Amino acid sequence: MAQTSVLPNPLIMNSGKLVKNAKQWYKVRRNEIFELFSREMYGQAPERPSNLRFEVVEEDKKALNGKATRRQVVVYFDGTNAGPQMELLMYIPNQVGKPVPAILGLNFWGNHAIHPDPYIRITKSWMESGRNNPYVNLNCVVEHRATEACRGINAAQWPLDTILARGYALITAYREDIASDNPKQGFSTGVHTLYPSLQSRDDNFGTIGAWAWALSRAMDYIETDQAINPKKVAVFGWSRLGKAALWAGASDARFALVISHESGAGGAKLFRRGVGENIRRLCTVFPHWYAHNFNKYMDKDTLLPFDQHYVMALVAPRPLYVGSAVDDKGADPAGEFASVVAVDKVYRFLGTEGFPAQTMPPLHQSIQGKIGYHIRAGGHDVNLYDWQQYLNFADKNLR
Ligand code: GCU
Repeated sequence: MAQTSVLPNPLIMNSGKLVKNAKQWYKVRRNEIFELFSREMYGQAPERPSNLRFEVVEEDKKALNGKATRRQVVVYFDGTNAGPQMELLMYIPNQVGKPVPAILGLNFWGNHAIHPDPYIRITKSWMESGRNNPYVNLNCVVEHRATEACRGINAAQWPLDTILARGYALITAYREDIASDNPKQGFSTGVHTLYPSLQSRDDNFGTIGAWAWALSRAMDYIETDQAINPKKVAVFGWSRLGKAALWAGASDARFALVISHESGAGGAKLFRRGVGENIRRLCTVFPHWYAHNFNKYMDKDTLLPFDQHYVMALVAPRPLYVGSAVDDKGADPAGEFASVVAVDKVYRFLGTEGFPAQTMPPLHQSIQGKIGYHIRAGGHDVNLYDWQQYLNFADKNLR
């Protein structure tokens, strides 16, 4: 197991010199790291499209028995009704003064799956099927399309009532609206169809990059919505969507807080330890996730000239929370924790509180500085305990 002491140091510039001060970090080193990861791993993302268009297609100010306002917004990525588009589902708490802070996160199985509310629009995008999904019952899926019977199947991971009661809006969108997670589709759907020239490059933006980019497009909409405070938006994601949330938070400083939940390999875990899912598996089982360039690091996990704490350093000094589960072995909880410890020095270098611990806390003990971390019992999943820690951390850092 590699030691964090031999980890590459994010404060050493490409020139080999140490970053002298915060100004040099923001002007030079931060850009170097951003360029490195855009080239080698996540791919080059396009600019905000000039014809990006939003349309509120449904609204109810008395949703959920009057508790919340529900808004459904279509984001037309190329401005046309026929082009690729994502649907934002928003719930905004009614009992608090506006504008409110919000949590934005992509979902795995469609907006209609996060809550049984019968007015949520059922996604028309492709849907995975399969009988043995440990999280949701996908028997409702017919020929890779969701049906009425799919409403609320994923509600256990999205405790909407708790989030609203704590005074936060929830904004979500379905991953397949944006970019397919089915490698067989070969970038033939969603936003990738708008950027064919980017796909033929070695630094192509893959599916993780596209999801992150779409989170920024959701933020573009949020900035126009009077009910949400755009300076208090936390970006959240679990697992592969946590990898995307981390990159979104790293690449778009409008996200005021970043939550990486069990994002593991290609997310918060350090590759250098050589534990858990490795780069070869990421690049071969999920060849659509990262740029072609990332393939050259297969079998070099422990020798990487950079590591995932650099991505987290791009979030600094904004609040960042990493959540792990003890049985989530593929994500290597100790590796997720090691990156939290490793990035602490960048936070402190920038003059903010970093992570106020050096050793892994016991189960169910959330540590919260400017960086937060917890490890809970159980496996790869999202549960109420996780959300309670994220909401506490948001209260501490966004209020
Ligand atoms: C797989 C994959 C992980 C990913 C996870 C998920 O297990 O290997 O990298 O995080 O799926 O998204 O649930």
